Amino acid sequence: MPHHLVSIADLEAVEIIRILDHADAYWSLASEPIKKLTSLRGRTVINMFFENSTRTRTSFEIAAKRLSAEAINISASASSTSKGETLLDTADNLEAMFPDCIVVRHSFGGAAAMLTKEVSCAVINAGDGQHEHPTQALLDAATIRRNKGKVEGLEIAIVGDISHSRVARSNILCLAKLGARVRLVAPWTLIPRGIELIGGDLTRERVRVVTRLDEGLEGADVVMMLRVQHERFEGEAPRFPNTRELSRTFGLSERSLAYAKPDAIVMHPGPINRGVELSPQVADGPRAVILSQVSWGVAVRMAVLERAILGPEAWPAARPAAA
Ligand code: NCD
Repeated sequence: MPHHLVSIADLEAVEIIRILDHADAYWSLASEPIKKLTSLRGRTVINMFFENSTRTRTSFEIAAKRLSAEAINISASASSTSKGETLLDTADNLEAMFPDCIVVRHSFGGAAAMLTKEVSCAVINAGDGQHEHPTQALLDAATIRRNKGKVEGLEIAIVGDISHSRVARSNILCLAKLGARVRLVAPWTLIPRGIELIGGDLTRERVRVVTRLDEGLEGADVVMMLRVQHERFEGEAPRFPNTRELSRTFGLSERSLAYAKPDAIVMHPGPINRGVELSPQVADGPRAVILSQVSWGVAVRMAVLERAILGPEAWPAARPAAA
């Protein structure tokens, strides 16, 4: 039975913690001269990316290779979907080459779930439209845990284009499951009505919407900034007058960061738009952990690939030694 990862909603808190514990063990591997383990030797991972990606695609490839799997990358422009082939036909053809795992990114929210019905190998969602990006939420949780020692009880502000963000949706679920409190901070027009209920009672209790930046940042332990996802605005009525005004009212500068706790960390899934959601001083400042998130991406994706292909039962019950 493959262990797909489509949505954070499918994971219990204990399973999330198990993945994070394994990622902790892989984190230290990055500083070794030889960064290779053999648990996925002889396995094949296909990265099928129909949307642009720098961090996610590269880190899935590095993660697969660090576990000695073969990693093959295909992108939309180089695949036969540009010749009219459907996603399912493409998946059937890839499946005929017997991969152990397909990692998929697609603009259709639901693409990864659809593939789990079609193919018999494991499917990992690397971002499906505005729906979810589960490995991003896991690497964000790993980064928070490393910097703050815990996730439970923290006050976490997610700021920006919540409406179009799969990162926000996965993080709301993941952070609430791990016991954090989440504020969603944006103008009303960038917050979907009822978003605080996506995880039922759990998120109803732990998530609140705040439409002012100062109030949203007040006392926050973690500030997670989001990019305005202009590519998803097509055909919609304008949500804000212009980017400059949004940046002035909801962008993070050293001045607005002062509302958060003095030891608050600043996160961003990337790609950052300097001077829009984040001032360069904050992006490059001592409180930003944005590049550390990227490093955690490799460690977390190693754990996720192992879980998907070998199953969590292949992991020893005991917590591995943390790095
Ligand atoms: C995010 C994505 O693709 O959803 N980026 C990422 O995976 N690191 C966020 C974004 O594109 O703004």
